[in-house]
Amino acid sequence: MGLWSRKSITEIQREAAAEGEGGLRRTLTATNLTLLGIGAIIGAGIFVLTGNAAAQYAGPGVVWSMVLAGVACGFAGLCYAEFASMIPIAGSAYTYGYATLGELIAWIIGWDLMLEYLFGAATVAVGWGGNFVAFLKEFGLVIPPALTNAPFAVDAANNFSRTGATLNVPAVVLTILMTIILVIGIRESARFNNIIVFIKLAIIFLVIGVGFMYVNTANWHPFIPANTGKFGEFGWSGVLRGAGVIFFAYIGFDAVSTAAQEARNPQRDMPIGILGSLFVCTILYILMALVMTGMVHYSKLNDPAPILVAVQAAGSSLAWLRYAVELGSLAGLASVVLVMLMGQPRVFFSMARDGLLPPTFAKVHPKFKTPYITTILTGSVAAVVAGLFPIGLLGQLVSIGTLLAFVIVCGGVWILRVRSPEIPRAFKTPLVPLVPLLGIISCFGLMAGLPGDTWIRLIVWLVIGLVVYFAYGKSHSHLGRGIGTSPT
Ligand code: ALA
Repeated sequence: MGLWSRKSITEIQREAAAEGEGGLRRTLTATNLTLLGIGAIIGAGIFVLTGNAAAQYAGPGVVWSMVLAGVACGFAGLCYAEFASMIPIAGSAYTYGYATLGELIAWIIGWDLMLEYLFGAATVAVGWGGNFVAFLKEFGLVIPPALTNAPFAVDAANNFSRTGATLNVPAVVLTILMTIILVIGIRESARFNNIIVFIKLAIIFLVIGVGFMYVNTANWHPFIPANTGKFGEFGWSGVLRGAGVIFFAYIGFDAVSTAAQEARNPQRDMPIGILGSLFVCTILYILMALVMTGMVHYSKLNDPAPILVAVQAAGSSLAWLRYAVELGSLAGLASVVLVMLMGQPRVFFSMARDGLLPPTFAKVHPKFKTPYITTILTGSVAAVVAGLFPIGLLGQLVSIGTLLAFVIVCGGVWILRVRSPEIPRAFKTPLVPLVPLLGIISCFGLMAGLPGDTWIRLIVWLVIGLVVYFAYGKSHSHLGRGIGTSPT
């Protein structure tokens, strides 16, 4: 038993099936799962980053950036769907890695997923705080800036400095509230998510529907502005760079897979939740990008609230839509935080079940049936990060961490098809190995477009993870100690 030992699929499936009274509760339907996916996907990406990508890199061609990022996620989504229906376990990519590439890679992926879920939640909570403060201002309510900003800032050269602020209170409060809901129950969390997703979808439909009437097609010419001479500044290279930025907007469909152990019928419903949410959001994103760049010239969209810029450009007749957009963005970002904070504890839960984290992390609340220790731990760490640190540092780290997980999941599907073709798969990724291969290439391509600093931070993070593994996980691993499982 060593670093490369794998958990057998049959054993994992047996564990999932044996989940009894003391375990997580299987209550989620296909609709719940799809709405959880939409809850996690539509957030800061569409409400903030689209404008930035259009204004700085792609112009109206950001629509193509949306298509490209959506297609890359589609490849990964198809691979997630196969795994999640075959291995309905809360650990998601971590467990898939354990079954295919061995314990060390599984650990790396588990550790890496913290960048997506834990830091993703903190990043979006800070975005939510900014929107909340702006929303209150509309009504003349002003919270002192010392209570709405992080006390630390970081500049382009990675130097930390004090800002004079004390704490980003709105971001912390949101994180705590979402954590409380998640502790109370998965069904309750799903219900709460359904409501806020309904609000944000209604508002997005409204903006798209009304916005199309105000499109000035002259704004779409040229659709892909000419390249300035520098790679990534307009032209097709700008569309590519835009896709890298926009990728953040798609993160979240994979979080559905962490709810696999709480799904009523994961074999059927996991692919529906993962692919359904991704499909719906891709279409909405493309329409939204068309509307935004049609309502206003792309050069005006470099604003933290680009949808508002587009709506305002339509003149006073759309003044009423302003509040709806603000409300939609508050709802949107809150549900992202909720679902990210749902994903992380479930990955920790699976890692603890395998002995790689302390056993207390695998505790399920006797009444609420949630992994409450890890939920509280995740919520607390996310609240501290959101309250104290600037988000500029984190956004791209979230993207690179997620992309790494996608690459490994795509590779895992392919490997398992070769190694264990006989295992029944409720959902089969089409055209293997083409789809996993395209998933690996496209996600790796998006990673390659991210700045060198982000790569260095990723590597530092993974090295810290390895230290933790060798200090704790390796010697406590159930597989390593021969408890309960046998390799395929
Ligand atoms: N996709 C999520 C968002 O855009 C992370 O906020």
